[in-house]
Amino acid sequence: MKPQGVLIAGNWKMNHTPKETEVFFEKLKIGIQSLDALAKASLDNEQIRVCVMPPMLCLQTALTKTKNMKVTIAAQNVHFEKKGAFTGEVSGPMLSELGINTVLIGHSERRHYFGETNETVTKKINSLLSQGFHIIACIGETKAERQHQETESVLKKQLDAIISDQALSQSQSLVIAYEPVWAIGTGLTATTKQVEEAHGFIRSVLTNKFANKSGNIAAQKISILYGGSVTVENFADLLHCENVDGGLIGGASLKPENMIEFIKIAARSSS
Ligand code: 13P
Repeated sequence: MKPQGVLIAGNWKMNHTPKETEVFFEKLKIGIQSLDALAKASLDNEQIRVCVMPPMLCLQTALTKTKNMKVTIAAQNVHFEKKGAFTGEVSGPMLSELGINTVLIGHSERRHYFGETNETVTKKINSLLSQGFHIIACIGETKAERQHQETESVLKKQLDAIISDQALSQSQSLVIAYEPVWAIGTGLTATTKQVEEAHGFIRSVLTNKFANKSGNIAAQKISILYGGSVTVENFADLLHCENVDGGLIGGASLKPENMIEFIKIAARSSS
């Protein structure tokens, strides 16, 4: 049983058009309605939480389609400024007016393809926390960094950047997603041993950070998600790992029937 429940977060990346978004949520709704009593109760009491991150252009459709559903719609990215000359960007106030209050920040694809750094990620987190958002912040090492035994130093550096004083004081709004870059979209899932080691290390860094603030309890309460080739086949094993509080799921989250399966797996694992 996970103290903070299980979070199933689907990151669609640049997939699904607005029409496909409609169809996805219609199917998801039917799937949720036909869940057994245990899974339904877990959604109702928020022991299992479902979050879907469609592309910006599909957010409105997703919000409309999920009006009466226990599903959070989140954005995959956001700018740290509230407005201004930043062509192609989207701000917190724009998202919040739409009804979005959760954002993904620092995904490795944003870091690798769009030049985001620990610095810009920190700016975004601090700005969005002060705008009242919930944040899923991504960290993770590359294949070369793992091969050079740098996994822990990379994670520590990323966490040092992310966990500012502001993040410490608003930790209830923060979720950390550990996504080893080499496992993303490659079909290579980290082994449960690698996952437990990384998540245990992340938890220990968080605990140290909170030592002089609100204490261990706050560190324990931060959910740590695993991401990187999560499938309906490996999700149960991943959820059994200590300090894994859910999944950040890319490719496999694009099918509503998989999302239903993830909910069922989470319900079984927390019963
Ligand atoms: P995949 O599940 O497709 O490997 O993607 C993981 C991911 O990057 C989720 O944010």
